[in-house]
Amino acid sequence: MKFLIMNGPNLNLLGLREPDIYGKEDYNALLARCQRVCALLGVEMESFQSNHEGALVDRIQEAMGEIDGIVLNPAAYTHTSVAIPDALKAVQIPCVEVHLSDINSREAFRRHSFVSPVAIKTICGKGFDGYEEALRFLYDWLQKA
Ligand code: DQA
Repeated sequence: MKFLIMNGPNLNLLGLREPDIYGKEDYNALLARCQRVCALLGVEMESFQSNHEGALVDRIQEAMGEIDGIVLNPAAYTHTSVAIPDALKAVQIPCVEVHLSDINSREAFRRHSFVSPVAIKTICGKGFDGYEEALRFLYDWLQKA
């Protein structure tokens, strides 16, 4: 089984970026945490981060036939992108949506996600723990599928 961890714009700046909201740990620490969880589950892991919507769409398309499940934090594109959920629907790879912060208790514009309707689950407000929960949920979901 192989999972793809995808992160959208500005998540490469974790640790520096609004640490009161997104935490003090950096992007590499996030990947290390995900890698540890995948190793425990016996799952292969790939990661991809981009600040560009089209690059995220390209990576989702390339995942077809290669990746069993996606953990995706679309970051700001959550609230603006139609192309990302369209790509997820096209490839039919199960995806868990994750947000470090609780998007429902912040500015009004963050409350709507274009990705949630195509995700098998959405987890928010749990920081790095949310990624671990997403990986475990995806693993269990695929075992049952
Ligand atoms: C985010 C929440 C988004 O609203 C924001 O634009 C991000 C990060 C989160 O992880 O909490 O960049 O997806």
